[in-house]
Amino acid sequence: MLTVNDLKDLKGKKVYVRVDFNVPHKGEVISDDNRIRAAIPTLAKLLEQGARVLVMSHLGKVEWKKLKKGEKSQEEIDAQMKKNNLCIVIEPLKKHLEASLGHEVNVKFCPENRGEALKEAVEGLKDGEILVAQNTRYQAGEEKNDEGLAKEWASLVDAFVMDAFGSSHRAHASTVGVPEALKAEGKPVALGYLMIKEVENLSRCVEVKEEDRPYVAVLGGLKVSDKIKVIDSLIDKCDYIVIGGAMAYTFKKARGEEIGSSFLDADSLDYAKACLEKAQGKIVLPIDSVATDSFEEVEGRKIVVCKQIPEGFEGVDIGPESRKLFAETIAKAKMVFWNGPMGVFEQKDFQAGTIAVCEAIKDLEGKAFSVIGGGDSAAAAKQLGYKENFSHVSTGGGASLEMIEKDGHLPGVDVLR
Ligand code: 3PG
Repeated sequence: MLTVNDLKDLKGKKVYVRVDFNVPHKGEVISDDNRIRAAIPTLAKLLEQGARVLVMSHLGKVEWKKLKKGEKSQEEIDAQMKKNNLCIVIEPLKKHLEASLGHEVNVKFCPENRGEALKEAVEGLKDGEILVAQNTRYQAGEEKNDEGLAKEWASLVDAFVMDAFGSSHRAHASTVGVPEALKAEGKPVALGYLMIKEVENLSRCVEVKEEDRPYVAVLGGLKVSDKIKVIDSLIDKCDYIVIGGAMAYTFKKARGEEIGSSFLDADSLDYAKACLEKAQGKIVLPIDSVATDSFEEVEGRKIVVCKQIPEGFEGVDIGPESRKLFAETIAKAKMVFWNGPMGVFEQKDFQAGTIAVCEAIKDLEGKAFSVIGGGDSAAAAKQLGYKENFSHVSTGGGASLEMIEKDGHLPGVDVLR
């Protein structure tokens, strides 16, 4: 695969960079700009070389299918689009690029993402300038990998760089269609620096070397059904799979335990039973829980620590004995992959399990390789102050899980091969 380092003579060349600026935001306020910062090295490198850079990303979801089925009105879709207007990234992008390049950068925004307006905006770029186009998902053809749309985008540029690891599990027009169209014309398509780092680090969790064993996966999250494929794959790859979070209650139920009113993914009960059998002791489940009668932080709510959860209570964190058991299991690891918090870490009362996992991984610093598979666990590590204690924190939740499930294959990476 080519990388951004292989792209030469870029002065005056137009380069399409697919980034993942799907950042958490409320209106115009971005609460975490990590994904913007993560894309800076690639963008800075291209701008330094005098390239004219077209940046494309999605932001949020546009529910086209619901519009088609009449479940959403055009007004609701328009409001959703307004909310996910990509122009919110311009200021932070400018700030980080300027810090990296050491001079002022003109970051332009095109409110359209195809047609004459976009063409003119790209044509108007000067060497070393950057243009962010409107949210790719404002085009219904984006998620269908529409060939016409991909060809139109490809026709605007001379080269493609993929730096959107978080979106590389999506075979969309902007991630797969554009590089396909450019390849067909003999134009270069390459991996950006963020992608190189992600692929290198996550590949280690896919093709496991003996020196990285014991390999411990720590999984959390809500539904077993969301993670079936990754659990299957991890049973084959790992030495231990520690399961916490709401997902653990489906496994506990499958083992015949009382889970009170805890979340149960009833459709996955048989699967959970089969997993426990197949894993032959590799799966480590909580032996006690913190449970509450109210998920809401209301005064007087009851919080108990218990082995069997009483009716009317739901498990919201792992208990003290489980924290010890999980920490002891993690302590054995030469490599840890973590996806999904152990409890409702957003609430102080239910953070202890997630903190215990972070502490156990922190204790491995210098002795083991540790990866956070993006999403909520990355947010938890950041909020709780442990982000620096991991060897790698992925910018992609869904993408890192899919990379493990599919033995290293992702559509947005495979297309560059
Ligand atoms: C993510 O946040 O996981 C990526 O940006 C992909 O977003 P999506 O799940 O809406 O495709």
